[in-house]
Amino acid sequence: MEVLHVSAECYPVAKVGGLGDVVGALPKYQAQAGCYVKVAIPGYKTRFWENHEFEIVHQAGLYLGPHWYHFNIWKEKNNTLGFDLYLVDIPGLLDTDGVYGYYNDTERFLAFQVAVLDWVNDWRHTPDVIHCHDHHTGLIPFLMSHGYKYERLRSVPSVITIHNAQYQGQFGWDRQYLLPSFDSWKGGLLDWAGAINPLAAGIKCAWRVTTVSPSYLEELFNSAAGLESLISHERAKCVGILNGIDSKVWDPGADPMIPANYNARTLAAGKEANKQALCREFGLDPSLPLISFIGRLVGEKGADLLPEVIGRSLYELPGRVNFLVLGSGEPHVEWSLQQTRQYVGDHFNIYIGYNEALSHRIYAGSDFLLMPSRVEPCGLNQLYALRYGTVPIVRSTGGLRDTVTDIGDKNGFGIRFIHAAVWDICRAIGRAVSLYEDQEVITLQHIRQYSMQLDHSWDSAAQEYLNVYNSMIP
Ligand code: ADP
Ligand code: GLC
Repeated sequence: MEVLHVSAECYPVAKVGGLGDVVGALPKYQAQAGCYVKVAIPGYKTRFWENHEFEIVHQAGLYLGPHWYHFNIWKEKNNTLGFDLYLVDIPGLLDTDGVYGYYNDTERFLAFQVAVLDWVNDWRHTPDVIHCHDHHTGLIPFLMSHGYKYERLRSVPSVITIHNAQYQGQFGWDRQYLLPSFDSWKGGLLDWAGAINPLAAGIKCAWRVTTVSPSYLEELFNSAAGLESLISHERAKCVGILNGIDSKVWDPGADPMIPANYNARTLAAGKEANKQALCREFGLDPSLPLISFIGRLVGEKGADLLPEVIGRSLYELPGRVNFLVLGSGEPHVEWSLQQTRQYVGDHFNIYIGYNEALSHRIYAGSDFLLMPSRVEPCGLNQLYALRYGTVPIVRSTGGLRDTVTDIGDKNGFGIRFIHAAVWDICRAIGRAVSLYEDQEVITLQHIRQYSMQLDHSWDSAAQEYLNVYNSMIP
């Protein structure tokens, strides 16, 4: 079976969050399961592109309204990632340093989708499945079905995975002229709430829709940033498949980014060595429990609650806990975390920015990982934490609910709370500190060892995606 994934991110080439991790790992596991897998992402100016060998496999031009752009499709020559990687290079649009956040993101991702379709349209054969990810690729299923140019692709099955329905990529109908011409009788499929909505169009037109956890799919029926009725209407073709992790990249036994490697057997010494190094790096006290947060500093992740949570916990548990935050995002959250640091003193430190290697050191060196997410379609941080023997403290929502069992329950290995509110998060932190201090009652060591051995690799999820593909192929 030949599958083409189309995405805005793919680790290690370009990653902003979990989408990159998923599109870097799932295709690799699918290839191991016997599929012929291709991944197409925009050709941003990345170090990966500079440091690896690529060849041009296709060159053409496309129109975005009245504007003409030349594009090249570059293929990575050595199958370094375990699948065929293609970069869609559109000078003047996609040759940016970053992934998102440009004034012309609508044009950038529209051109990306058109270039991918024009290229596939030109193949001698057609792929068995086109698998789109999030709104940046949501117009592809519509254009395959109703774009005049793409007649050849009508019968190719398409899947869209919703990683995050909060972002839908809407733009006004006044920019319809940017799209390649399509059957105007079908224009309503592009519309949601009076705008062209790529995510909604993807949900309407893809043959199958997947979400990144079963609980998230259930939540979307009631809370989907305006798309609730659409998801309910399309429920027959929706399925929730829990993300896995790349257990080669995230392996404390072999991770080159952490100071001391360890496994479930050598956990106590390994964790201690990593914690000592991390605390030294950030001026924290290694004799106290270390609770960390890693992620985008946005409301969705509950990051705006952190300053008050940290301030209140340090006040209520003086000299009994340390906090460390790694992230970047909304300026007011960054600012208030920095202010908090000024007044709470030595038991809290913060790194504002994106730092892949530091994230590995934090998963390895922390005792607990806090995720007070308001919305969490799957969440990968808690899975990485589990693999590194770090106990997750999570709000019981979406994928967090599907992957973390509370220590109060049978075989529990995490701490769950219900409300994205300071009092409830502080209560969960209180439970974590007691667990750390009272190690005789339920041994932290036992919980950690147990969680390190849980299997969250992609093997079974990759198979579930294959089942979805097979269900579409006659
Ligand atoms: P989301 O995709 O919503 O941001 P996920 O939990 O699925 O959330 O994935 C987040 C990914 O991004 C994880 O691999 C996490 O380690 C990484 N990450 C987030 N923020 C940072 C940061 N500031 N530095 C390094 N890695 C980060
Ligand atoms: C999104 C979600 C996150 C999920 C990731 C990968 O960014 O916010 O919860 O883990 O996609 O699917």
